[in-house]
Amino acid sequence: MFAERVLSGMRPTGNLHLGHYHGVLKNWVRLQSEYPCFFFVADWHALTTHYETPDVIEQSVWHMVIDWLAAGVDPNQATLFIQSKVPEHAELFLLLSMGTPLGWLERVPTYKDQIEKLKEKDLQTYGFLGYPLLQAADILIYRAQHVPVGEDQVPHVEMTREVARRFNYLYGREPGFEEKALEAVKKLGSKRAKMYAELRVAFQERGDEEALEQAKALLQEAQSLSMADRERLFGFLEGSRKIILPEPQALLTSASRMPGLDGQKMSKSYGNTISIRQQPEEVIKSIRTMPTDPARVRRTDAGDPARCPVWQLHAVYSNAETKQWVEKGCKSAGIGCLECKQPVIDAILLEQQPMLERAQKYLDDPSLLRSIIADGCDKARKVAQETMREVREAMGLAYD
Ligand code: TRP
Ligand code: SF4
Repeated sequence: MFAERVLSGMRPTGNLHLGHYHGVLKNWVRLQSEYPCFFFVADWHALTTHYETPDVIEQSVWHMVIDWLAAGVDPNQATLFIQSKVPEHAELFLLLSMGTPLGWLERVPTYKDQIEKLKEKDLQTYGFLGYPLLQAADILIYRAQHVPVGEDQVPHVEMTREVARRFNYLYGREPGFEEKALEAVKKLGSKRAKMYAELRVAFQERGDEEALEQAKALLQEAQSLSMADRERLFGFLEGSRKIILPEPQALLTSASRMPGLDGQKMSKSYGNTISIRQQPEEVIKSIRTMPTDPARVRRTDAGDPARCPVWQLHAVYSNAETKQWVEKGCKSAGIGCLECKQPVIDAILLEQQPMLERAQKYLDDPSLLRSIIADGCDKARKVAQETMREVREAMGLAYD
């Protein structure tokens, strides 16, 4: 159950663009072959900021899933689902809310930040304050180890760790814990049991973090343990509580600053994007009309790539040889701007072609898409229900 698992979500609030592709989706595609991955549409999170315009979300959900598939996210490898179709997230969110101090939520940097930035929206709401706790529930309900996120989301994962720690502290108590843990050690088999005991001592007496990691790995591999015993042994390493909700780690997505059509970072709010599935004619037009170094008024005026947004796209898409050709040609007025833009156009169209092809399959037959998500939701629900059974029991809610 503590199998290494990756979880991440994305809010459906509009078209995905090449910034999402380079920044997030390429990373997901890489991860899906390395770990069991759960990727979901965070429609409830979208509602925290778009509660007045839910139609935006409704229109974005399926489009976004097609974008994921277009980018190469593979439903045979990763589990894809929609948050609101797994209502267990809401139950865990509610239960976690009982013991979560308000201060933890108010102090998350994105909270005040977003209220400031999105001035046109009233975000003085209960739902928006709860945003990071809902995210914690998303993560903890799958007992995910790794959470690929951008830098802005790291504080949310940090808070998730605190929420998990507090949960285990409050509800991982058990009468006779120590005896039960010692019994469970025996079940590891003599060789593993000895190693576990040694590593535990190394961590508890000498603070050896490496030993702690090794012990966790050892438990990870031990197939013979029941779920409850495994929780005890994870907890026994560090203290006297069961670890019901393990602490996740942020897997920082290296910041890729994908430039937009105006040289600023590509972002919907700047209106400088190229969509993942933008039609080729539109891509060609967008790049052709991109601003260039203002010094190049006439074809014969020399320019400087450092002052040109097109150059930033060359930095993403062109090889050393092409970049040299641009530098030289621009500074000597040896090439025209349209000529200079052509390799960028070619590269983007080349990148998009397989994406357009993959998407077509789902556009032609939307039932394929629905069944991928239905399967993913079933799989996710199974895991989530298992966690909730234990959570309810730990919180004294298992009356039946
Ligand atoms: N808050 C995330 C974002 O805006 C989306 C999200 C919701 C998420 N739940 C999550 C990301 C759980 C990772 C894990 O990008
Ligand atoms: Fe920009 Fe290229 Fe024109 Fe130079 S030649 S200004 S780099 S588009």
